[in-house]
Amino acid sequence: AAPTRYEAENATISQGVVESNHAGYSGAGFVNGDNAAGSYVEFTVNAATAGQATIGIRYANGTTVNRPSDVSVNGAVVSAGRPFQGTGAWTTWVTSTLTAPVTTGANRIRLTATTANGNPNLDFVDVEVAAPSSDLQA
Ligand code: GCU
Repeated sequence: AAPTRYEAENATISQGVVESNHAGYSGAGFVNGDNAAGSYVEFTVNAATAGQATIGIRYANGTTVNRPSDVSVNGAVVSAGRPFQGTGAWTTWVTSTLTAPVTTGANRIRLTATTANGNPNLDFVDVEVAAPSSDLQA
């Protein structure tokens, strides 16, 4: 199955704005979070089944300074201070991929900036839940 894409501009934003002035984003724009620790974007992600999800986070960081972020699922941090290093330009978007467990139904995936520089610019998350092994048998 293909992953499902959740655009940051449709997510819940705490301290930040939707912008579209740096080309290369998907959808209608991206989220420019405030340069502040604690600013976050939260995606509501629906999973048809519980399991291990592959979560691809697309971002740009036009600075040369890492912009770490705590990635949480349903309130539990699954990647603390996850690094989002400089990508060379605000128009250069890359994807950082992790895996984390999700439950059936709605899941809250949140990226919370841990430094005063805030999050990188966030474009989307792509989420795919691995099929249970029983589904893989012929
Ligand atoms: C620049 C850039 C923004 C970015 C910001 C930042 O202002 O144009 O897109 O979000 O830097 O440092 O976070």
